[in-house]
Amino acid sequence: MINLKSIPSEKEALDSYEVENIFHSWSYQPSQSPLRVVSAKGVRFTTEDGRQRLDFSSCFVSHNIGHQDPRVVDAICKQANTLCSFAPSMSTKPRALLGKMLEEITPGDLSRSFISLGGTEANEAAVKICHQYTGRRKILSRYRSYHGGTATSMSLSAGDARNWAQVLGGTELVSVPQPYCYRCMFGKKYPECDLQCVKYIDEVIELEGGGDKVAGIICEPVTGANGIIVPPREYFPQLREVCDKWGILMITDEVMSGFGRTGKWFAMDHWGVVPDIMTMAKGLTSAYVPLGATIVRKHIGDQFKEQFFSHGATYAGHALACATAIRVIQIYQEDKLIENSEKMGKYLLEKAMELKDKHPCIGDVRGLGLFVGLELVKNRKTREPIMPLNAKIRPGMNPKLEVAKKLGELGMIAMAANPGNVIAMAPALIVTKDEIDEGVGIMDKALEVGDAYSEE
Ligand SMILES: Cc1ncc(COP(=O)(O)O)c(C=O)c1O
Repeated sequence: MINLKSIPSEKEALDSYEVENIFHSWSYQPSQSPLRVVSAKGVRFTTEDGRQRLDFSSCFVSHNIGHQDPRVVDAICKQANTLCSFAPSMSTKPRALLGKMLEEITPGDLSRSFISLGGTEANEAAVKICHQYTGRRKILSRYRSYHGGTATSMSLSAGDARNWAQVLGGTELVSVPQPYCYRCMFGKKYPECDLQCVKYIDEVIELEGGGDKVAGIICEPVTGANGIIVPPREYFPQLREVCDKWGILMITDEVMSGFGRTGKWFAMDHWGVVPDIMTMAKGLTSAYVPLGATIVRKHIGDQFKEQFFSHGATYAGHALACATAIRVIQIYQEDKLIENSEKMGKYLLEKAMELKDKHPCIGDVRGLGLFVGLELVKNRKTREPIMPLNAKIRPGMNPKLEVAKKLGELGMIAMAANPGNVIAMAPALIVTKDEIDEGVGIMDKALEVGDAYSEE
């Protein structure tokens, strides 16, 4: 029997468990334990060494309302004392209420949700719904996207009677370009380009069999981890027309861009476009507890009144997590956080533009709301990336990670542990002007490390 008392728990022991007993996400496994976080409050966190730092990443863009809001902690305790969870085949008040609230805050007639545990699961459900609704196998997704950590988990469940949606053929993926104007794959310039990126998708759909074969396309409205790519304003309205022309479903992944991150409830609200399926996680509970959701338009939800819904999970609609989401959604409204994101986002973008004037290693600055990226280059004229895209991300060999390391030493974290050469600043939606000045000031100093790689 394990006796916890016999397991050493002092600093050195915990450090060794981190190295020997834990897999760390998406990285070469560290030879030393990372800094241990002991507490966090608002936009700051404290490590074991007693040092406080600024969190300018909101922990992979998830802690939208800031850390340790007592109102959310109270809601969690209240629900935990009442009912932590129950089998998803039964109803709980938090799940039913959250379903209705999601209908209220999402655009158009998005109305029926499958409530899961995180972004990956929300997207898995979206793709399965898309297959089941259309009966087709092909899904378009865009290069430079991130939609989650598992491929299609049901593909692994071969022979399981529940996986007919996969047996239908599994997902056949077709990749298409992003509206990445700084590095346009067509060598064009906006607006003269006339949105070749959308025209290309239209042609790809035709070549892939049109509405007979293609089920849908999945897009991040503002691409997050792969470089804060903000589309031109005509992009989604035109893409909507293409989807409608072929009768294919538009799935938008708002896992990062949702819940006020871009200055609106959802990034799609900027362009007045209603997707057929929308996925969300992170800001849904502001990461106080794990939760994800997949919401579909009414006619899609209604089809499943007649048709078996071939998806599920033990923790689907977990009561504790749904109660947390309800409180967090109220807080976005009570504290006018989405308005603050819009206002502070404009200020952050302005300040980031000033950094570009000072630092030759910054090739491009782009963002929407409190979601701002700095793309690092070796040469601003040629736009040569500061590091080739597929270069190994070994510690000490990647300029972007060197900048991130310097940020840490100076007292801040930003979002840098992602592919490509973009460092993102995404503080919590409660951030003030003074905190933005402080964070941008730290970024200013850290970027000197990047300037050393510049050829200018
Ligand atoms: C756009 C997007 N979709 C999906 C995911 C996966 O979410 P999770 O890590 O909660 O599974 C992420 C995670 O960063 C994301 O940024």
